[in-house]
Formats: sequence, structure tokens, C-alpha cells
Amino acid sequence: MSLDKQKIVELLTTEEAEALYQQADKVRHDTLGDAVHLRGLIEFSNICRNNCLYCGIRKGNPHVSRYHMSEEELVDTARKAANIGFKTIVMQSGEDMFYTADKMCRIIEQIKKFDVAVTLSIGERTYEEYKAFREAGADRYLMRIETTDKDLYHKLNPNMSWQHRHDCLLMIKELGYELGSGIMVGQPEQTIDSIADDLLYLKEIGVDMAGIGPFIPHPQTPLAKEKGGTLELGLRTMAVMRLLMPDINIPATTAMESLHPQGRIKALQAGANVVMPNVTEGEYRRFYELYPNKICVNDTPLHCKSCIGLKIMSIGRTIGEGYGSHKK
Ligand code: SAM
Ligand code: FES
Repeated sequence: MSLDKQKIVELLTTEEAEALYQQADKVRHDTLGDAVHLRGLIEFSNICRNNCLYCGIRKGNPHVSRYHMSEEELVDTARKAANIGFKTIVMQSGEDMFYTADKMCRIIEQIKKFDVAVTLSIGERTYEEYKAFREAGADRYLMRIETTDKDLYHKLNPNMSWQHRHDCLLMIKELGYELGSGIMVGQPEQTIDSIADDLLYLKEIGVDMAGIGPFIPHPQTPLAKEKGGTLELGLRTMAVMRLLMPDINIPATTAMESLHPQGRIKALQAGANVVMPNVTEGEYRRFYELYPNKICVNDTPLHCKSCIGLKIMSIGRTIGEGYGSHKK
């Protein structure tokens, strides 16, 4: 659907939010059907060289118990996730240089043997590294642009460059990955006008997947006292994204469920068609704390898969079969 900026702002602020959600739900149904694709998310390292002001695992937070999984541990976690039926494995971490390109490539090659699609979400790397990961078999890459307001980006992401992150997204696209990006809504000083720009940006770069999550202030970060985003703003933004790009993959984000016990179900009924249950094991789940009240920290991968599976079926949807790639 072609929407101009003014129309997007109108939708983001409409008094008829329920009607907006229903419209997005219908577009999702008519374009993609009722399948919900599950991705098994492995949070394999909380070590990061960056210091994003909002992020619980930022380098400057001394209270984090830092970990990174060994190569064997990571591959083993992926194997177990594949064995319980996940057809996509998402590997996410801070920007942890322990995982050299060679190490990542070895890991990707081993995980690809489990007949799964592999998504990487490990931040900014060089063109050569993205190319090597792709050649090793990585199918998708997920990196949010966070905001297109460059001043805001530079305030909240010290020593990082918006232009560089944007260039990375273009490289990823050029290398033939399915490109996932997205934004965080409710960042301090972020305006509705700028969120409208963000949605147009995601359309312009041609994302295959768009993740939209509310910002939740973490008590051990410089933004501890900020208000944060709301579930409602997250849902509205996500619903408009669905209208703008009817056939892309849109996850019901974990941050939404952290704000409301039915957050992901509400998202699935407002345009989303993907869920990313956590398949990280043991204490690591708790240590990968981007924001407080993270859900499922004491659960097992199988428990998370069954729990979300039942919720999905309870609203008349089905669990997607196959890799759930972007169908253009
Ligand atoms: N390092 C990789 C990157 O930069 O893409 C992946 C990990 S990073 C922690 C994943 C996402 O978590 C970020 O893109 C950001 O949108 C989200 N995030 C970080 N802190 C958050 C917070 N306090 N509330 C909600 N989302 C947050
Ligand atoms: Fe790097 Fe959050 S600051 S993952």
C-alpha cells in the first residue's frame, strides 16, 4: 500500500486504534494467510564493544555477568532447537569480537547441516565478513536501524555512526541476504514524525523483515529514569508497517510481551506473522538482559515453544511449516 508521510502520521495517532489493528490483521491474512513462523532465538553472547545508552548489556554496565558460549555450546544449542522443530535459528549477540569471521563461518557451516535457515544478528561487521558469513550459508541478517533521526541516534549510540549502520544494511542486502531491520519506539525525544520517517526508510531500503519494539528503560543504564515506549505505540507502528509492506515478515516482539502478558498475541492480531521464542538455555537467558522484566527467563526451549504454540492456536492461527522466508 502506498502511504505518504502525512497519512502515516495520521494512522500513528488515530483515535481508532482498534480499526487500524483490524485493517493490518486483514492485510496480513489476505496476503500471507494464517501461518505464524517460529524462529528459535539463541542469545549466545552478552559481551559488547558498544555503549548504547538504552541497552542493559552495554559495555559500561559493570553489573552484568558476562558470558559467551563456546563454539560447541552454540552449535549444540542450535542442534537441540532444530530437533524440537525450529526451521530457523537466529543467533544474536552483542558486538563480541571473540567471534572472529573464521569462527562464525565454522559455526554457520555446522548449523546449516541441521536443515534450518540461519539468521545472524551480531551487529556491524566489515563487507568481507558479511560476505564470508553469507558464503558459509547464512540466509538472513537482522540489524535494526533503531531510528532515522541521526541526531537522536548519535546521542543514544555514542561512538557509532548512523551512516555506517545504514551502509552495513545496504551491503547486507547487496550480498543477497534476506534483510531484517527495524526500530525501537518510545526512545527519549523521538517524535511521531520521525517514526513516520523510519517506516518510509524501511520501505525504501526494501526490508524483508521489520522488527518494531518498544523501548523499555533498564535500571542500570543512563536512561533508567526515562518513560519508555508503550505497547500501544508499538502496535500502532507495527500495524502501519504491515499496511506499507503487506508481504514482509513482521515479528511479534518479546519486548511487547514484557509490557503486557498478551503482548505477542495482540501483535499477531495487529499485523505480525512471526514469533521468536527463546531457545537459549540455563542462566544465559537471565544474563542477556537488554531490559527489565524480560519474559521466560526460567523456562526451557521446549516449554517456550509449546507455550507460544498453544497461544497461537488459541487465536485460530497455525504454526508455519518450512523456513518461512519472505514471499514476494
Ligand atoms: N548487537 C546486535 C545489534 O546491534 O543489532 C544485536 C543485539 S541488540 C541488543 C538487539 C536489539 O535490542 C537492538 O537493536 C535494540 O533495538 C534492542 N534493545 C536494546 N536495548 C533495549 C531496551 N532497553 N528496550 C527494548 N529494546 C532494546
Ligand atoms: Fe551492544 Fe546493546 S550495546 S548489544
